[in-house]
Amino acid sequence: MPSYVVVGSQWGDEGKGKIVDVLGEKADMVVRFQGGNNAGHTVVVNGKKTVLHLLPSGALHPNAKCIIGPGVVIDPFVFLQEIDALESQGFDSSHILISDCAHLIMPYHIKLDMLQEERLANNKIGTTKRGIGPCYADKYTRIGLRVGDLIDFETFKKRLASTLAIKNEQITKLYREEPFDYDKLVEQFKEIREKLYDRIIDSVTVVNEALDSNQHVLFEGAQAAMLDINYGTYPYVTSSSPTSAGVCEGAGVSPHKLDKIIGVVKAYSTRVGEGPFITELNDENGAKLRKIGNEYGATTGRPRRCGWLDLCVVKRAAVINGLTDLVITKIDVLDSFEKIPVCIAYEINGKRTTAIPSSLEEYAKAKPIYEMMDGWCEDITSIRCYDDLPENCKKFLAKIEEFTKTKISLVSVGPDRENNIVIHEI
Ligand code: IMP
Repeated sequence: MPSYVVVGSQWGDEGKGKIVDVLGEKADMVVRFQGGNNAGHTVVVNGKKTVLHLLPSGALHPNAKCIIGPGVVIDPFVFLQEIDALESQGFDSSHILISDCAHLIMPYHIKLDMLQEERLANNKIGTTKRGIGPCYADKYTRIGLRVGDLIDFETFKKRLASTLAIKNEQITKLYREEPFDYDKLVEQFKEIREKLYDRIIDSVTVVNEALDSNQHVLFEGAQAAMLDINYGTYPYVTSSSPTSAGVCEGAGVSPHKLDKIIGVVKAYSTRVGEGPFITELNDENGAKLRKIGNEYGATTGRPRRCGWLDLCVVKRAAVINGLTDLVITKIDVLDSFEKIPVCIAYEINGKRTTAIPSSLEEYAKAKPIYEMMDGWCEDITSIRCYDDLPENCKKFLAKIEEFTKTKISLVSVGPDRENNIVIHEI
């Protein structure tokens, strides 16, 4: 069946780019359906490393059309920078297209993201400060500007004038900062319009036609289930739905058309930004995971918080997304640990549960209940076949399958493209 959804099953940074790389080989189309330039993945183009934040990693498969879908919020300055970076390395970007319904992240959204975080002080979300939240807020307040508004520039100018009046009032009266200049924004966006014009499409029609003609379509998620606006650890979440349901909403595709829903799971846990993280390790094991796993944010450079694998989190992702397959990444980072605790339940107010409470106050009380697994204490990066994995590593994988009731189809045992073990063909 030809449509694949790839989503994060923890707090993001699970290494989704790796599986997209594998699946991208056969994709005719790659679609991003939510989020914005808060994501981050390092890609190698013509031998040179480039970090992409907005463009999906699947954009690098030049034979696949790449669509920035309606549910995405797009910073046009970042979009053009990323296109320039790729083109300067000899990459043809004419296959990268943008939905007319995607919302524009405006310079005032970035300013407001910063001001709001500062104002929240100790209660800050720890956002990437890229204007994501304020842009989605305007979308739902129905004062946002969409990529399609650029087509008729007079309409764009009118909508900008009306929205900017509200935004400037917030900026000057609430935060006592300088307002944004309307004429300057108009000039900037006139230029942006010219550069984006040929890429603006009705993506809903284009994506559905591709699906209906049996093309391989890959929906590439950013962030992950625990950062979902509805089901994550609210308010310490992002502002979109990085789930399979998010594909339907953010790409305009029926759930009937989603065939494989692949959840990417890192063999341990990491989180950037604030919010509860029950298996977090503030000790030498956490530091060791960070060092071996090189756990620093690709977007912000922040050191990621590290901890043991939390299967309650992964199970929730499996349920919410209806995962058909799991991909386990960075399992080689655990190679030198003699004991590997895996969280299989929480104790909250003296009661055992695997559910994640919606109240953060309740969740903060959770104590992890671990199953202690034996490590394998050998380098597995050169292994390419499941049967050759050490027994303890197989037991670790079996525990994940048993707990989540989802089969593991691929295991990544190292950073390189070929460091993969295929268990089931996806
Ligand atoms: P925002 O998406 O910039 O509003 O940030 C909200 C929360 O989501 C913060 O905790 C961010 O660190 C987190 N976040 C956003 N994008 C990513 C990502 O790609 N990986 C990991 N965390 C992310």
